[in-house]
Amino acid sequence: MVRLLLQAAVLGALLPAGLGARNGPQRTFGIDYDKNYFLKDRKPFRYISGSIHYSRVPRYYWKDRLLKMKMAGLDAIQTYVPWNYHEFKPGVYNFFNDRDIEYFLQLANEIGLLVILRAGPYICAEWDMGGLPAWLLEKESIVLRSSDSDYLAAVGRWMGVLLPRMKPYLYQNGGPIIMVQVENEYGSYFACDYDYLRYLQKLFHHHLGDEVVLFTTDGASKSFLRCGTLQGLFATVDFPPGSNVTAAFLSQRSSEPTGPLVNSEFYTGWLDHWGHPHSVVSTEKIAKTLNEILAQGANVNLYMFLGGTNFAYWNGANMPYASQPTSYDYDAPLSEAGDLTGKYFALREVIGRYKPLPEGPVPPTTPKYAYGQVAMEKLGTVAELLSDLSPSEPIRSTYPLTFVQLKQYFGFVLYRTTLPKNYSEPTPLRSPLNGVHDRAYVSVDGVAQGVLERGKSYVINITGKAGTNLDVLVENMGRVNYGRYNNDFKGLVSNLSLGQVTLVDWKIYPLDIDSVVGRGLNSRGEESKTAASNPSRYAAPAFYIGRFSIPSGIPDLPQDTYIKFPGWTKGQIWINGFNLGRYWPVRGPQVTLFVPSNILVSSALNNITVLELEQSPCDIQKCAIEFVDKPEINATLQYESNSQKLFTKDLWLDPL
Ligand SMILES: *[C@@H]1O[C@H](CO)[C@@H](O)[C@H](O)[C@H]1NC(C)=O
Ligand SMILES: *[C@@H]1O[C@H](CO)[C@@H](O)[C@H](O)[C@H]1NC(C)=O
Ligand SMILES: *[C@@H]1O[C@H](CO)[C@@H](O)[C@H](O)[C@H]1NC(C)=O
Ligand SMILES: *[C@@H]1O[C@H](CO)[C@@H](O)[C@H](O)[C@H]1NC(C)=O
Ligand SMILES: *[C@@H]1O[C@H](CO)[C@@H](O)[C@H](O)[C@H]1NC(C)=O
Ligand SMILES: *[C@@H]1O[C@H](CO)[C@@H](O)[C@H](O)[C@H]1NC(C)=O
Repeated sequence: MVRLLLQAAVLGALLPAGLGARNGPQRTFGIDYDKNYFLKDRKPFRYISGSIHYSRVPRYYWKDRLLKMKMAGLDAIQTYVPWNYHEFKPGVYNFFNDRDIEYFLQLANEIGLLVILRAGPYICAEWDMGGLPAWLLEKESIVLRSSDSDYLAAVGRWMGVLLPRMKPYLYQNGGPIIMVQVENEYGSYFACDYDYLRYLQKLFHHHLGDEVVLFTTDGASKSFLRCGTLQGLFATVDFPPGSNVTAAFLSQRSSEPTGPLVNSEFYTGWLDHWGHPHSVVSTEKIAKTLNEILAQGANVNLYMFLGGTNFAYWNGANMPYASQPTSYDYDAPLSEAGDLTGKYFALREVIGRYKPLPEGPVPPTTPKYAYGQVAMEKLGTVAELLSDLSPSEPIRSTYPLTFVQLKQYFGFVLYRTTLPKNYSEPTPLRSPLNGVHDRAYVSVDGVAQGVLERGKSYVINITGKAGTNLDVLVENMGRVNYGRYNNDFKGLVSNLSLGQVTLVDWKIYPLDIDSVVGRGLNSRGEESKTAASNPSRYAAPAFYIGRFSIPSGIPDLPQDTYIKFPGWTKGQIWINGFNLGRYWPVRGPQVTLFVPSNILVSSALNNITVLELEQSPCDIQKCAIEFVDKPEINATLQYESNSQKLFTKDLWLDPL
């Protein structure tokens, strides 16, 4: 007795605030296979859940967003854990600030939301490489998401860090987590490796205990469920609005003849790609199917309830290569900025037909402020600032190396060689094997020549003198997050040729732009050469800076805002060192970027840094960016033909 009490006291002291032993009977969560429902504290339970990814919302706003989800009548939230967001380099873990998942779980618990944890290791999620760390590719032949021994070893180490942190947050331990997902839509992947699923099952139970409810999610058809499910892992399905709900759940029944019906991803909207129209799904259609799901007594997770933002470089891509934009608004009930929408209230009304909605006001939409134009000035080109951006000696290599070989996983790398002879006539610079991953900005002697782009542009003409620098700045636009092309190497992944010769003897400069911008990027003091002699639509990639202060005398500033890029083409933007993401208004559909207020300060000037890769307005017209109070993520532009068809759900789910 004494020993037991002591253990409880020690346990209580170790557990995070709000968790731990409680008075009353022991908390339990399980499945009643006879009666087709979950059992929470031994009573029948059905959940209505919504997806929110903590990695796509600044920590500052977690509580606001969770409260809005609670007030919609949700019982639970569902979140993914992106492995690569936490283990940036092998064995180096980050669980601080925006990555503090434990704090996120505590908030959910305090607000009274249960949590369905999708722990990976693979998550898809339109997230870089589906959440898998790029450093796994250091073994080039690795078979991801299989029983490849090196892959399993890395998974084992990661889960040995993540899952013990999650264990105190399990429902039976006083926390909010009722279920833990293993892998993600594994039945859509070519490997179909049951040993891998068995390994994960054992690993998860080892760290989380035997009581935990583990589950899988797959597309609602027998063909997906075949390779995605395993005895002992509860099989759930996903399907979109407009589906035949009865038929979709019958497919779940093919794997789980009894037990609760669950749609783990009921799509409230859909993802976007650069160069394709913004996705919109009608509220009426969603409300109708949601009503049908709930009327069957089924459990549902609305994916997404709030999409949020792909800050920095975190977006993924689909094949044929098309990367996702910075906004992950998803046309969800809560907008990217957490705003209440008509869809929110319509779905709340549907939920209200099945359970009492919580009392009290819904937290209001946060106000947005148009700070107006901010003048920008050119600091210098990437080549001019190279000694700051890449302080070490360049890596010399006969043939180009990939980002992974350079151990730089995100952002930009400059590949430099010299022209072997005079090219006075336009000469084709080619990527014969489509090996520019993903976009290369080419200059000769500081003068822009054009852009090579994966899957789109394999050759440009260049001119230049013998011995001058040929600079190829390569942008990683996000790794493929879905399907068999997950092992997506970046950089120059094959040789470039110029005329008839293969280019050799590269000097490779990994660019540590984020650290440099964080410290404050300074002008080199030299006059920046402008490429006035070249009338092309391109200029050499360059940095621009601007400063602005938050107006005084107006209450409640700073507030959230959106940035617009009048006359700018494509690039990356930071405010006060925070990497807001990519902008590409000429390609669209996203035109403005969301700026959360927490990165702005009133006490000092706010610093904007822009890396423009193609053409800034600065040589031609007024050179500014502009803060506006309305988002624009649905611009109508000249899209590629067939773009509407390319990413329908069926095609996307099909393991091509
Ligand atoms: C929906 O699917 C069920 C089961 O397959 C079928 O009986 C029913 O006719 C379908 N309903 C519609 C409207 O197609
Ligand atoms: C390249 O052309 C310049 C004149 O533009 C000439 O001086 C030089 O000798 C040439 N170099 C080679 C390697 O042909
Ligand atoms: C390159 O220049 C040649 C000769 O001027 C021209 O025929 C060809 O179309 C050009 N190619 C590109 C990709 O601009
Ligand atoms: C470039 O070509 C050389 C010679 O054919 C080859 O050995 C090398 O692997 C190629 N490099 C890349 C990155 O494709
Ligand atoms: C912006 O840069 C200026 C000058 O380097 C500095 O004084 C100021 O503190 C910076 N602002 C922030 C918010 O970091
Ligand atoms: C873009 O979205 C706004 C706000 O929802 C809407 O008013 C506008 O009509 C949309 N534009 C296009 C081209 O769809």
